[in-house]
Amino acid sequence: MNALIAVLPGDGIGPEVVAEGVRVLEAVAERHGHDFTLKSADFGGVAIDAVGDPLPRSTLDLCLLSDAILLGAIGGPQWGGSDPLRRPEAGLLRLRRDLGVYANLRPVSVHPALRSASPLRPELLEGVDLVFVRELTGGIYFGTKTRDATSASDLCSYTVAEVERVTRVAARLARARRGKLTSIDKSNVLETSRLWRETVTRLMAAEFPDVKVEHALVDSAAMHLIRRPADYDVIVTENMFGDILTDEASMLAGSLGVSPSASLGDGTRGLYEPIHGSAPDIAGRGIANPIGTILSVALLLRHSLGLETEAAEIESAVYRAVEAGLRTADIASASVNAGAWVSTREAGDAVLAQLG
Ligand code: IPM
Ligand code: MG
Repeated sequence: MNALIAVLPGDGIGPEVVAEGVRVLEAVAERHGHDFTLKSADFGGVAIDAVGDPLPRSTLDLCLLSDAILLGAIGGPQWGGSDPLRRPEAGLLRLRRDLGVYANLRPVSVHPALRSASPLRPELLEGVDLVFVRELTGGIYFGTKTRDATSASDLCSYTVAEVERVTRVAARLARARRGKLTSIDKSNVLETSRLWRETVTRLMAAEFPDVKVEHALVDSAAMHLIRRPADYDVIVTENMFGDILTDEASMLAGSLGVSPSASLGDGTRGLYEPIHGSAPDIAGRGIANPIGTILSVALLLRHSLGLETEAAEIESAVYRAVEAGLRTADIASASVNAGAWVSTREAGDAVLAQLG
């Protein structure tokens, strides 16, 4: 198969983890005879430094032409200036919006060998296998902002159509998994949440009567996610709740470093990135965990290119590498070898070795 894949390494540890993701992608392409064209572009802080814009027109155009986009991470203290539009994060929000990727899939499962890397008791983690579907292009992230000397405001708004389309993505996923959808809101306080809950209820009854739906308030869901994480299958929620809860949920897996994500819209084009940030504190040292990026490559193959076999090969190679002892510094506490760990490159090598 032919495909054009945009590669946006970004800032901090982004280029280090993306390099390993690209090696795995190229190995899989070679093995299966695919012809992937990879094109890199500046995005985030590096693009601000190069041309004064976190999302240069040429980068956006490349992404719009591509079948899929692989992104590392963006941001860093040197780009925290007073103009919010010149922050790397503003470029990421524009990219998500301009690509129309309104559904952000963040799967969380816990490798048995990594249970001890999690701050939670191992017995709580048995059977954890859930997917967040976070609404990604609406809500408070994109509402009108105001600011004067003594006050500020961020508008949170949602339309029925925005809630319906992301709920459909989540419900289809639930149908293909264990048939359970949890919708998280704050409908005891927020009007947007009341619209959200009513819309989810109506749509599920009309289109997905076979999928079991439960509604939960975000504060109590944050607690239950820690108390009984194995009970969840697919979780759908609005943009900011999803941002917060997915960082929380990543700790089930022991580290922010192992969680991938896929951002999808109506077509097959998607944006794939690990959920961790640019980690400026460890950037340049070659010690970041590339697993979140490598698993994002698997999601890219599955969701944008329809290559399920190749995706599953990568996932099981990662699984076996972890089983065989692969530990980067962030998950080293779960090492039989008491704290021994490997570099980003060696972690990539370990996955490639399992790919065969
Ligand atoms: C994420 C990140 C982003 C978000 C930031 C970098 C804008 O935290 O992808 O979860 O808030 O969406
Ligand atoms: Mg976040």
